Amino acid sequence: MTLNQEATLAETAPVADQVETIIDVKDVDVFYGDKQAIHTVSVPIEANTVTSFIGPSGCGKSTLLRCLNRMNDVIPICKVTGDIRLAGQDIYAPEVDVVALRRRVGMVFQKPNPFPKSIFDNVAYGPKIHGLVKSKSDQEEIVESSLKRAGLWNEVKDRLSEPGTGLSGGQQQRLCIARAIAVQPNVILMDEPCSALDPIATATVETLIDELREKYTIIIVTHSMQQAARVSQRTAFFHLGELVEYGDTESIFNAPREERTQNYITGRIG
Ligand SMILES: Nc1ncnc2c1ncn2[C@@H]1O[C@H](COP(=O)(O)OP(=O)(O)O)[C@@H](O)[C@H]1O
Ligand SMILES: [Mg+2]
Repeated sequence: MTLNQEATLAETAPVADQVETIIDVKDVDVFYGDKQAIHTVSVPIEANTVTSFIGPSGCGKSTLLRCLNRMNDVIPICKVTGDIRLAGQDIYAPEVDVVALRRRVGMVFQKPNPFPKSIFDNVAYGPKIHGLVKSKSDQEEIVESSLKRAGLWNEVKDRLSEPGTGLSGGQQQRLCIARAIAVQPNVILMDEPCSALDPIATATVETLIDELREKYTIIIVTHSMQQAARVSQRTAFFHLGELVEYGDTESIFNAPREERTQNYITGRIG
């Protein structure tokens, strides 16, 4: 560390003092068979904050993200140990209903993946199977409010019965975000949500992420450091399955404490 960085750090307020931790990850190890992909990672995820997971390809970003709503359960060789709590509750406890967990911790993937159904049904399906709507008008209301919140309503309100797959890539991704929002989650996990989008659609989704923070907690995996700097307040940098450094995004990019972080952000690893 240079003297200059030390001086900057001294002026930087510590992170995560009085804020609410919505997901608390403690000493998590993840194995695929006998290969360890995550090494004793602990990270507090703050409520109503955008946290980005950055680091070189294969460093375990997606693996850790998938632990947070137990998506790794579907990979038979994957074993997760340690403690992950959502609002204080151990999400790996035997009594946890995984379907209900995934309602509270939704996910948006790299490639937009609308169901082969109408735009309306893409959004209406989740609330229906989770019993969140009683009447047709409830359903219409939730579809409209979710599409509005996802910034897509004006573009699709006259074509709700058309297939979701007929939308542009950026619109499809916002439809997937509307679908995630429709079941009233607390947290939305996004795994490189813009990597299949053009720069204009990316900018729209980034603006949306910033707006969503008011109501939801967002964790975004990105290999674009510029994107992490633009959208997130907190950044976690991973390397070879370890969490090297976590802190407020500005400090991570302007005054990293660790040499490995410095090397990554200056392009020396990755
Ligand atoms: N389904 C899987 N089966 C076996 N190994 C996997 C699987 N998914 C990921 N891995 C391994 O785990 C490590 C972390 O991968 P991943 O979480 O996808 O990294 P990232 O998202 O940072 O690129 C890599 O070594 C990868 O090969
Ligand atoms: Mg990944």
